[in-house]
Amino acid sequence: MTVLEKLTSQEAIELENKYGAHNYHPLPVVLSRGEGVYVWDAEGKKYYDFLSAYSAVNQGHCHPKIVDAMVRQAKTLTLTSRAFHNDMLGKYEKYATQLFGFDKLLPMNTGAEAVETALKLARKWAYEVKGIDENKAEIIVCENNFHGRTTTIISFSNDPVARKNFGPYTKGFLKIEYNNIRALQKALEGSKNIAAFLVEPIQGEAGVFVPSEGYLAAAKELCVKHNVLFIADEVQTGIARTGRLLATCGNCSCVDKNCSGTPEVKADILILGKALSGGAYPVSAVLANNSIMNVIKPGNHGSTFGGNPIAAAVAIAALEVVATEKLAINAAELGIIFRNELTEFSKENNLVKSVRGKGLLNAILINDSEDSATAWDICIKLRDNGLLAKPTHGNIIRFAPPLVMTKEQLMDCISIIKKTIAEF
Ligand SMILES: Cc1ncc(COP(=O)(O)O)c(C=O)c1O
Repeated sequence: MTVLEKLTSQEAIELENKYGAHNYHPLPVVLSRGEGVYVWDAEGKKYYDFLSAYSAVNQGHCHPKIVDAMVRQAKTLTLTSRAFHNDMLGKYEKYATQLFGFDKLLPMNTGAEAVETALKLARKWAYEVKGIDENKAEIIVCENNFHGRTTTIISFSNDPVARKNFGPYTKGFLKIEYNNIRALQKALEGSKNIAAFLVEPIQGEAGVFVPSEGYLAAAKELCVKHNVLFIADEVQTGIARTGRLLATCGNCSCVDKNCSGTPEVKADILILGKALSGGAYPVSAVLANNSIMNVIKPGNHGSTFGGNPIAAAVAIAALEVVATEKLAINAAELGIIFRNELTEFSKENNLVKSVRGKGLLNAILINDSEDSATAWDICIKLRDNGLLAKPTHGNIIRFAPPLVMTKEQLMDCISIIKKTIAEF
């Protein structure tokens, strides 16, 4: 077999099943090409992508500007490690810090690595700046969080499937209810050893839970009062997905002129990943100001691939596309249409219990028991009808198309979704 040999969908699935670990349960569809909002399977059938690789492909599949930047850099210099400087990293760090309004950026590769980095940074800051006694620092997290798959991160997950038999778990995390400001207040008042509060501005994996208006701002205010770092995990919600450059976007010095959001909060530590590269390459980052980031010294933290020249070139291109194509505004406008249309539909179809989300990060709650296969079966039918989406946690279907979608394409997708659900 050669890499150029063409496989049928069935052959590709058989190979994965036989030679790959079974750590995912993919929808049975084998994709072999993508362009913008579309993907094609191995037999050439065309689909709307309504997942965007879990919000990584916000700029659309194979965006020419991102691919050009990647190919150009791949032909010039791919990897230096941080043992030496390279002439792309600084440019990227300057561009991204100015765009998001922070002093410094620490480059990593995957979302989970960036979350790990933020946790280490917060702990070090707590000992060296805040003055917490060694090994006593605690970080507040939320129930039903999803921050990745490392041993430490799953230590504070409450998903039994993600945790079971992976212990012993990392200590130092306090779990509180999401979207409950009193629970945060109680936790902050209950201990002098809190280093940080780690939160997703919208809980994506948990089923697109949007917190109440003002929750994040009130949480940030409490953090300031208690000298606790507010860490925003925007791996899924960031880079225009929710209709603003960041879901927490606001009174930060964000210079995205296309940002359509109203002021909310500025994180002390911002975590980005996924669409930071437009899905072309694993690029993640942690951003913070000098008073926090300067606790990190040579040898404290790193990654062979973090900040490599391809990642830097790709990230600059991906962020430029978000600005030049006004993707935040498009996500905000299309998101309103999507929720309005499906909310109207839910009034006449009792299989759709509710519709929720922000920008183009949305979900529908299926009116059936948690453990029923209805959401999965709907996704199979959606696939047959030319649209790819995936259930998240039981009977919730997440809808997150690339942000380069046009209104016409969105209306086409809405009619596919309505028609498919009506058939059930
Ligand atoms: C909020 C959030 N944080 C972190 C991660 C982990 O990112 P990765 O899968 O790139 O490690 C995800 C992935 O879905 C996420 O949604």
